[in-house]
Amino acid sequence: METGESEDNTSNPRIAAGARTMNEIIEIRLSRRAFLGGLTATTLTATTMSLGLGGCAKGEQSVPRQTGTLEFDFEEIRRGLDTTHHVPSGYTADILIRWGDPLFDDSPAFDPLRQSEAAQLRQFGYNNDYLGFVALPADAAGRARGLLCVNHEYVSTELMLPNVAEQYPDSMTAELCLTEMAAHGGTVVEIVETADGWRPVTGSRYNRRITAHQTPMEFSGPAADSPRLMTNEDPTGRTAAGTLNNCAGGITPWGTWLMAEENFNYYFLGTPPDGHPEAKNHERYGVPAELFHWGRHFDRYELSKEPNEPNRYGWIVEVDPMDPTSTPRKRTALGRFKHEGAENVIAPDGRLVIYMGDDQRFDYVYKFVSSASVNAENPSANADLLDDGTLYVARFDVDGSMEWLPIVHGHGPLTAENGFATQADVLIETRRAADLLGATPMDRPEDVEPDPRTGSVWVMLTNNHKRKPEQVDAANPRAENLFGHIVQIVEPDGDFTSTRSRWEILVKCGNPDDPSVGADWNPLTSENGWFGSPDNCAIDPSGRLWVATDGNEDTGAADGLWAMSVAGDLRGTGKAFFRAPVGAEVCGPRFTPDGESLFLSVQHPGDGDDATFESPRTRWPDFEDGVPPRPSVLAIRKEG
Ligand code: FEO
Ligand code: CA
Ligand code: CA
Ligand code: CA
Repeated sequence: METGESEDNTSNPRIAAGARTMNEIIEIRLSRRAFLGGLTATTLTATTMSLGLGGCAKGEQSVPRQTGTLEFDFEEIRRGLDTTHHVPSGYTADILIRWGDPLFDDSPAFDPLRQSEAAQLRQFGYNNDYLGFVALPADAAGRARGLLCVNHEYVSTELMLPNVAEQYPDSMTAELCLTEMAAHGGTVVEIVETADGWRPVTGSRYNRRITAHQTPMEFSGPAADSPRLMTNEDPTGRTAAGTLNNCAGGITPWGTWLMAEENFNYYFLGTPPDGHPEAKNHERYGVPAELFHWGRHFDRYELSKEPNEPNRYGWIVEVDPMDPTSTPRKRTALGRFKHEGAENVIAPDGRLVIYMGDDQRFDYVYKFVSSASVNAENPSANADLLDDGTLYVARFDVDGSMEWLPIVHGHGPLTAENGFATQADVLIETRRAADLLGATPMDRPEDVEPDPRTGSVWVMLTNNHKRKPEQVDAANPRAENLFGHIVQIVEPDGDFTSTRSRWEILVKCGNPDDPSVGADWNPLTSENGWFGSPDNCAIDPSGRLWVATDGNEDTGAADGLWAMSVAGDLRGTGKAFFRAPVGAEVCGPRFTPDGESLFLSVQHPGDGDDATFESPRTRWPDFEDGVPPRPSVLAIRKEG
């Protein structure tokens, strides 16, 4: 979600006060060659294996390449912007599931003119973002099956609901607010690969909707039952009624789904009572942003009535997709911020490491290291693994080294003197703790993805037009960074638990032919191969990086998905694979374990400044008069 556009102020007081970042303000160009020289032991030695999406066909001899020259053998699509999606010739993109599609045997048919809470609770939600895939055993006919875990980040109210735009927000009745809440959250849906492609299994016993307001959840970890989480509805501080603004996420090695709560500030109205102790805390998180108007009808979202309620969002939520009756848990040990995602990896010593971005201008990159090792034999033994561990925030230093700073009560400035009585306080105010530790303010950290094969971690920094020339640093080297960049972190010897690591910039995004942009791509990048505003990424089963964008329309062309070479002579080239319809961002790239299918989220198609239900920029994917555009998940495969 474009957090930046609707919320122009940074909430980081270190920046607002004009403070310089930790790093020196001069731009230091590391010697890329020297840096990479130190990496060759762990750098990709990629071959084009049996991948439908870029290699030779199954059974063919794979061809050894020069060190790290990654090749993607699809025919690149062209830059452009129109009402529909595009894939390279030789590939098919099926609409797998759309907003409003049925999930259960009793789901009502999609009727955009008669939307309701009751209908939406039984249908696929709006603005699909993260996509997780949990493989199931093949069915009796030998067909591949799996559970798709989908986040529904938010709703584009005026595009989704008929007849509300003109009088908005007065047009928002309580029922319409409940409909919006039911369109948020997430979906678990079983899918099966038929001869005609992947299809949802309506009525599968696994299918589930999770929503903003209608799904009981529990808090766990150090901040659970903190008085700062207590409200009139929940005097225990242990239970929540749902989850908000679930952006990206992760699947754990034991098959649970992590949903990242991102822009929770959008949902609050009003101000806390005079002198309320949470006022300053809320300011740091941009609360209230007053984008949604549920607080007109429901006290939960009105700060004068429930001043602690915002503290109950901004967490990582863990869901067991195999059990639709299970209670999701908000894992407070992972900190509270505008969580973009929660991609994770098992470190060599068996502990789990979760990488997380805080998507706001001048906010930070984090990782969580569990205290216990993952039990690979017995998934249920990991049930509480995420309640105990160390959260770290990143400081990127000018010499290409970096330090992961522990966010632990009693360490350094995280003491009662600074207002942190307990670790619960530290976690509820993770951002302020990270400010005090001297973390590096970044250009909007989105997806952060570790690659277990190489020890590399890819950090998508989407953009930051607010960075001033005196605020640039080595890791955020462009003032007025309109198009973002990608940082590679290298964990030493693949030890993801390390607190001392190295980093390097892979690309500075934007148009390489416009000197005013200051982009930096491999010169071999084609006219279609560059992009702006990286957001989500994925690493395919042969270790190659794929990057989806949210904001490439600012360059004059559609958002999409690009294959990225990360090593060898082609390091820093992109290659365009998918183009979204106008108005949409692309999220959730997710490969099946065999690499033969790719799932993509097309979020907010047809959106734009003046776009409404009555007048969208496209009616993708149905293209029927009167039917609004429908956020949808695509399944992409090679033909044949
Ligand atoms: Fe929801 Fe940071 O994108
Ligand atoms: Ca985004
Ligand atoms: Ca995102
Ligand atoms: Ca990802």
